Amino acid sequence: MKNYKNDFPIFNQNSKDKQLVYLDSAATSQKPRAVLDAMDEYYKNYNSNVRRGLYPIAEIATQKVEEVRNQVARFINARDASEIIFVRNSTEAINLVMNTWGDMSIDMAMDDVIVATIMEHHSNFVPWQFLAQYKETAFVVIDITGEGYIDVDGMYKKIKNAKILAITHVSNVLGTINPIKEIIKKIRIVNPNITILIDGAQAVPHMKVDVQDLDCDFYVFSGHKMIAATGIGVLYGKKKLLEEMPPFLFGGEMIREVTVEQTTFANAPFKFEAGTPDIAGIISLGAAIDYLEDIGMEIVKNHEKELLEHAFSQMEKINGLTLYGPKDIKDRSGVISFNIKGVHAHDIAQVLGDMNICIRAGHHCAMPLHKHLGIVASARISVYIYNTKEDIDLFISGLKKVKEIFKV
Ligand code: ALA
Repeated sequence: MKNYKNDFPIFNQNSKDKQLVYLDSAATSQKPRAVLDAMDEYYKNYNSNVRRGLYPIAEIATQKVEEVRNQVARFINARDASEIIFVRNSTEAINLVMNTWGDMSIDMAMDDVIVATIMEHHSNFVPWQFLAQYKETAFVVIDITGEGYIDVDGMYKKIKNAKILAITHVSNVLGTINPIKEIIKKIRIVNPNITILIDGAQAVPHMKVDVQDLDCDFYVFSGHKMIAATGIGVLYGKKKLLEEMPPFLFGGEMIREVTVEQTTFANAPFKFEAGTPDIAGIISLGAAIDYLEDIGMEIVKNHEKELLEHAFSQMEKINGLTLYGPKDIKDRSGVISFNIKGVHAHDIAQVLGDMNICIRAGHHCAMPLHKHLGIVASARISVYIYNTKEDIDLFISGLKKVKEIFKV
């Protein structure tokens, strides 16, 4: 297994006895030197605003931003770069769709419903719950099976009158990779008028995603979980839908013409990008995609799978440890949530934290799912390309220490 740690400066500042073991990449990922350098280069060499200046450095910045838009379109196989909208993160992308698509479909019939799944992170749950309340329509939630898979049969029954289905590609708690392509194919037969939004925040960093192949209407993801900077995310939307949707934020650079009487708006994507964008963030996203593509998404996926297998096989043997999500590694991405009987998840994270082993504990912004699992909190590790089997071994030793301290 190749060791990529040298590419990530954060791992090169620790002495051997206080090595950083970072197992919280589902929350945010570490950044390689190539990404940091690309941002530094922008600020040092051509810092300027985009789509405004007629001088050389502004032209370079504008060109770089549009190159990244093209690069993102290629990375997820969108038909056209105009289908790529730069936003802050997945949460903002979902809120954009909820507000604008939501406005557009204001005339909901009495029996129309809005559907999400119990697996969703709050950012793909709360906006839809709110929209349903606002439109005084039903908010329907798809269940999961005991093994942590989407209850697909139940779903097909529940989406007959759905206006929209919001579903995650990968669960940030269970690690389940939902069979999105098959799900969408079948749903479109049952309900040809449905709009489908996929939360890809935990998928795009870890596997090859092809939005045309999936045939989703919207797909969202965040740069900071895929080794780019915080503050940059992507909304992909089918062109026809984006053209029909009203703007989200109003201001500079999203207009065609402004008079005292009225304003006309630019076409997508610019209609949805009011104000100065996160230029350095966009540039970091381009560098992140370059880095991941140089390795190859298939290699990224297999690297994580190997780490998961290594972790799973050892965690399964620990007495009193409950693992959540599918048992079959091939159905999982790089997330493992667990509990140890007799120890609160926060205590596990605290003890490991004291050993410089970073994991997450709590409800992971997925309270409905935790309630469904009958727990209030869980501990979670999440891996990425820079993790090694040694990281996993240190984590397992840490868990043994937790058990010693709490005498369980
Ligand atoms: N969605 C992020 C996580 O799961 C914040 O940690």
